[in-house]
Amino acid sequence: MIKFKLNGRDVSVDVPDDTPLLWALRDELDQTGTKFGCGVGQCGACTVHVGGRATRSCITPVSAIEGAEITTIEGLHPEGEHPVQQAWRDIQVPQCGYCQSGQIMQAVSLLKDYPDPTDEEIDGVMGGSLCRCMTYIRIRKAIKKAAA
Ligand code: FES
Repeated sequence: MIKFKLNGRDVSVDVPDDTPLLWALRDELDQTGTKFGCGVGQCGACTVHVGGRATRSCITPVSAIEGAEITTIEGLHPEGEHPVQQAWRDIQVPQCGYCQSGQIMQAVSLLKDYPDPTDEEIDGVMGGSLCRCMTYIRIRKAIKKAAA
C-alpha cells in the first residue's frame, strides 16, 4: 500500500511499486485529467506537480512518491479557476485539448521560477510539452497574461 497526498487529501493505492504514477492516478484514483501521451517522458501530457514542481507522471514510479504531495489539474485550484486556467480560457488556447492539462501544470510550475517570463524562458521550459495542434503561440500569450 502506497500512501500520499492527492489534491490535499490522504490517499493510498494498492499497486506494484513500479506502477507509473500516471496509471495510479487514472486507474486507481479516477483522476483522468492527467493524460497519457507517449509513456516515455517525452511529450509532457502526463505532467502533474510533485511537491509543487512539474513532474512527468508516466515515468515516475508510484513508490517514489510515498508521502509526497501530488497535485493534478483537478486540484490545481480547488475553488474556481487558477489564474493560468483563466488566461488559457481568455486566450482560447486549446484546439483538440488533449495535451492542455499537462501544458497548464507545466506553465504553473514555470511561473514559480519565472514570475515575469521572457519568450526565451517560456520556450525553454515549455519546449518539452508537445502539442499536435501547434497551440504554442497561444500558450506563450496565455502565460504572459497570467504573469501580468
Ligand atoms: Fe508522460 Fe508523454 S505521457 S511525457
